[in-house]
Amino acid sequence: CGIVGVVGKADAAPLLLEALRRLEYRGYDSAGIATLVDGHVERRRAEGKLGNLAAVLEREPLSGTTGIGHTRWATHGAPTERNAHPHGTRRVSVVHNGIIENHAELRAELEAKGAVFETETDTETFVRLLDDLLAQGLAPQAAFSAALKRVHGAFALAAVFTGHPKLLMAARQGAPLAVGFGEGEMFVGSDALALAPLTRRIAYLDEGDWAVLDTDGAAFFDARDRSVERQVVVTAVSGAAVGKGNYRHFMEKELHEHPAVLGDTLRQYLDPKTLEVRLPRLPFDPARIPRLTISACGSAFLAGAVGRYWIEQLARLPVDADVASELRYRNPPLVEGGAAILISQSGETADNMAALKLLRQGGQKVLSVVNVPESSMARESDGAVLTVAGPEIGVASTKAFTAQLAVMACLAIGFGRSRRELSTIDEGRLTQALLEVPGNAALVLEKDAQIRELAAEVAKARDVLFLGRGSLYPIALEGALKLKEISYIHAEGYAAGEMKHGPIALIDNLVPVIALCPTGPLFEKTASNLQEAAARGGRIMAFTDADGVGPLSRFAERVIELPKVGDLSAPILHAIAVQLLAYHVAVLKGTDVDQPRNLAKSVTVE
Ligand code: G6P
Repeated sequence: CGIVGVVGKADAAPLLLEALRRLEYRGYDSAGIATLVDGHVERRRAEGKLGNLAAVLEREPLSGTTGIGHTRWATHGAPTERNAHPHGTRRVSVVHNGIIENHAELRAELEAKGAVFETETDTETFVRLLDDLLAQGLAPQAAFSAALKRVHGAFALAAVFTGHPKLLMAARQGAPLAVGFGEGEMFVGSDALALAPLTRRIAYLDEGDWAVLDTDGAAFFDARDRSVERQVVVTAVSGAAVGKGNYRHFMEKELHEHPAVLGDTLRQYLDPKTLEVRLPRLPFDPARIPRLTISACGSAFLAGAVGRYWIEQLARLPVDADVASELRYRNPPLVEGGAAILISQSGETADNMAALKLLRQGGQKVLSVVNVPESSMARESDGAVLTVAGPEIGVASTKAFTAQLAVMACLAIGFGRSRRELSTIDEGRLTQALLEVPGNAALVLEKDAQIRELAAEVAKARDVLFLGRGSLYPIALEGALKLKEISYIHAEGYAAGEMKHGPIALIDNLVPVIALCPTGPLFEKTASNLQEAAARGGRIMAFTDADGVGPLSRFAERVIELPKVGDLSAPILHAIAVQLLAYHVAVLKGTDVDQPRNLAKSVTVE
């Protein structure tokens, strides 16, 4: 979810709406805003996308210069208007991102005291708690501070109060929150991106902090209510709106940005003149660490899984890669002197933030690979390496994913050099090959028409199988993930050699088998797995390179030729191909490509 608030001088509703538009990547199940009109709280809410709320506001405008807003990704309670934020009573209105874990217990306690709940949301427990304290005669600040002490979980909150038209309170505990400083107006928002059109002067709340805002400024308090100072920084985040250009969807536009983004990212870490890797200062010495842990979620995890193959091969460093939601609870035995890499587009994903804490507490030096330089992850890690992908709006990751792969490739070469597993000659050869990736990415995009034809076949299927080996195995998983996310077709990614242990039972002439099969040491192995599928009536659709076309054409229904490249480039090029495939299937199916149902771009709840 995304939250925003303003105490100001101009009408709050349009400002809140504009900020919410920039937070929609955090969820779009429902949205709402509340403002103080003549001293009392009024709100407008709508189920579904922000456009619905904007339409409601057209019909029933809201005045008032102080207000809060919310765009929701449902956790507790269905995504209906009734469950949409803000939630409130006569006395107070609240927006909330995250989860209040002890909501059931608090609810029982408040109901026993006579409170009547209107929704199933955990947010309402905070509202009723606050309302109860205000009813007892506590002033807003005292009530807010007392209510905060009762709630457990990871969340961010903002509240406005009846009778206090120039007051806003906000708290951060485990979910990000930024305070923006204007001229005679103040703002809060889930991130600097939301506030960028309103102000560039930002202070980030620390863990456990809460803030009291009026039109002139903000007072900050820590978890123990001590008054604290929080540094105001000028954010580099642009306030300019991001447009679709001439493309139909953001995803299409972002797919076509691949060559530029890969070029920008690689140029950041590779020197084209000396053919050397130039990494920023790392928080650990790759030559000295006994083990590396990689943690991430969703597509970012799959970039990490490819990174594991590369780092193990090129740097001979043992790597453990896991999804953050598992890592954080499996109590991994972390080695002394070990290091970790966290990968995330947003740098805000809640599970990965929890993994960050766990890894640091376990004595690991943490490097984050993020796309948002001022994100929580970048700020709280020991070091950060940026993907230079620019804003990614489509919910399903495309260019940010391949930029993550590009960074992992540079890290793998750099680590290999530090650990003396690679010579300068190896480094030069691998660097040269990587520098050709942007040009090759453009060649993959030229396969658009062929991939669209393949998409027409895939769009008819109910189930699809993606197969790959080695560093192409995580890309098979990514192909399946992407297809599920945006076309709602069931897909599975499998290690090609593992297919015979289960998925082969699914194979018949209705299940397309998408094979990621570049030539190289594993080509014959994958090809023979594909023949096992073909022998059972499976319809093989293969991506390969010039040398693979001949052998695969003997049994495959379709073969699409991608540039012939080495092991650091093949996963990147195949990733673009499967993203394009998923995109075209989704378009054919008529789904909401940029904002697929039930998903959010940045998942700030556990
Ligand atoms: C969501 C998005 C995915 C993304 C994942 C991790 O599930 O839909 O595209 O890969 O979150 O997000 P992060 O910002 O940490 O990369």
